[in-house]
Formats: sequence, structure tokens, C-alpha cells
Amino acid sequence: MAIRNILIKGDELLLKRSKPVTKFDKRLHDMLDDMWETLRDANGAGLAAPQIGVLKRVFIADDGETKLECINPEILSTEGEREVREGCLSLPDLVGYVIRPETVTMRAQNRSGEYFTVTAGELLGQCLCHEYDHLDGILYDTKVTRFDEPEEETGSGRE
Ligand code: CO
Repeated sequence: MAIRNILIKGDELLLKRSKPVTKFDKRLHDMLDDMWETLRDANGAGLAAPQIGVLKRVFIADDGETKLECINPEILSTEGEREVREGCLSLPDLVGYVIRPETVTMRAQNRSGEYFTVTAGELLGQCLCHEYDHLDGILYDTKVTRFDEPEEETGSGRE
């Protein structure tokens, strides 16, 4: 396993649409393992493959309780709206508030290619929506309704 370099806003790869995964092979598994190591190192809550320069529809999420690997995710439905404070490992100097669904239901494949469905709210639901946007080249600063002061001491909660 290896810690990968996280791309920072300004890199055009972050603005591209990622392509579906078709092979659930060792190469994918190695990338996922590297993504977990990179996320842990960065003390974040989620990481999408384009953030490490790989334009594949893959992300991982970890709210401290649930760890998810989502490949070729689709948003099946959302419910409600709420304003949440958000951060992103690719925009390290920014914290802002965005509107996210109260809950999101997503279908995705795991690293073996098997489909699963997850419904989540709170931090995990927020993270699923944030990471999903990365796969379409959308950075959350385009959704920010108001900015906030970053906390210097921790990167915790960044996605
Ligand atoms: Co992000």
C-alpha cells in the first residue's frame, strides 16, 4: 500500500467526469487500499478516485462508524434538505456551508462487483453526496452558500 498524492483545486483532472469501472481486479483493489491509507493519513471522511488523479467512478467514505467502498454509484433517491458545514481535502483552505439532502439512497458496487444499496443521513449521507459530485467533476465550492473560517488544528471531516 502507498499514500497517494491528493490533487488540489487548480488541477484540471478534478473538473473531469470519471468513467465507470469495468474490471474488478487486483489493480482496482490495490487502488482502493491506497485510497484508505491516503484517507487515514489525511484524517478525512471521504476520498474519490479523481482526487488521486484516477478518473474512475470510485470513492470511499468513513464517518467513524461505517466504512464504504462505492464503485459506479448511482443516487436512487434523496429526501429533505439541510445546511451542512463541509470541507474537502482538495480545497484545504476552504470551509463552507452547502445544502445537502437529509438522507440519500445510493446503489453501488463493492470491490467484487456485487451491488448493494445504502441509505444514509448525517455525516455519512453528506459524504456520499460530496464524493459522488467528485465523480462528475463537481467541487463543493460551487455549491457553497456561505463561507466559514477553517479550523487550523485539524483536517477532520474533510472529504
Ligand atoms: Co472532496
